[in-house]
Amino acid sequence: MPPDTSGKAPARRFDDQERQALYDIINNRRDVRNEFRPDPVAPATLRRILAAAHAAPSVGLTQPWDFLLIRDPRRRADVHAAFLRANAEAEEMFEGHRKALYRSLKLEGILTSPLNICVTCDRNRGGKVVLGRTHDKNMDLYSTVCAVQNLWLAARAEGVGIGWVSIFRPQDLRDLLGIPDHVEIVAYLCAGYIDELYTKPELEARDWRARLKLESVVHEEGWPTRQPRDAADAARCE
Ligand SMILES: Cc1cc2nc3c(=O)[nH]c(=O)nc-3n(C[C@H](O)[C@H](O)[C@H](O)COP(=O)(O)O)c2cc1C
Repeated sequence: MPPDTSGKAPARRFDDQERQALYDIINNRRDVRNEFRPDPVAPATLRRILAAAHAAPSVGLTQPWDFLLIRDPRRRADVHAAFLRANAEAEEMFEGHRKALYRSLKLEGILTSPLNICVTCDRNRGGKVVLGRTHDKNMDLYSTVCAVQNLWLAARAEGVGIGWVSIFRPQDLRDLLGIPDHVEIVAYLCAGYIDELYTKPELEARDWRARLKLESVVHEEGWPTRQPRDAADAARCE
């Protein structure tokens, strides 16, 4: 028989147990801020997690991401100071009991986690014309977010928690980590082993906001003509 040059093989089928394991990982993933163990993530584990991120889909196969591993306590202290500055600004945007509740939330684990990972998107990777990015330049950013989600789920499978910290002035992070202008910061993540976790999103547990029902965000054939979200959510968003 001539060699198969199509690059195709029969699609592997996953049995019930394997399928369930994936759904369990997805449904047991949490954003982690407070529950990190201090011991370092084992190099082989970290490599598997990063390899999972690097296996994500990307526009035109550009793989526009980079993963900056930040372990130095002094550098993390500087990042934490940048978070505190931004968080003080954020706090001012809420009023009344929301402000008090916001203040009580733990929104990062920059110093308590043993590893921080800054995920960036190189907006020049792949050159001027990228297959699939000709009419929407943001496709590289969306690709990078796919990598972040792969990383998050793989970490969960490895017993490693991830917390996404977005409360920064981007320029502060850029300066601290030496990130050039053509590279966008997509995610700043805290990572470390975890022994316990919230069973539902902490923001839901703390009564900040409830999750939307699946039915309220799935629509047939186009944008819905009637406002689908339930009244309780509308009230919460005001
Ligand atoms: C893009 C993005 C930015 C986020 N930024 C923060 C943040 O700055 N601080 C924080 O505590 N959580 C942050 N989160 C976590 C969300 O609050 C969390 O994912 C959401 O409440 C759902 O909870 P769960 O991830 O535990 O299911 C962020 C999540 C995403 C996807």
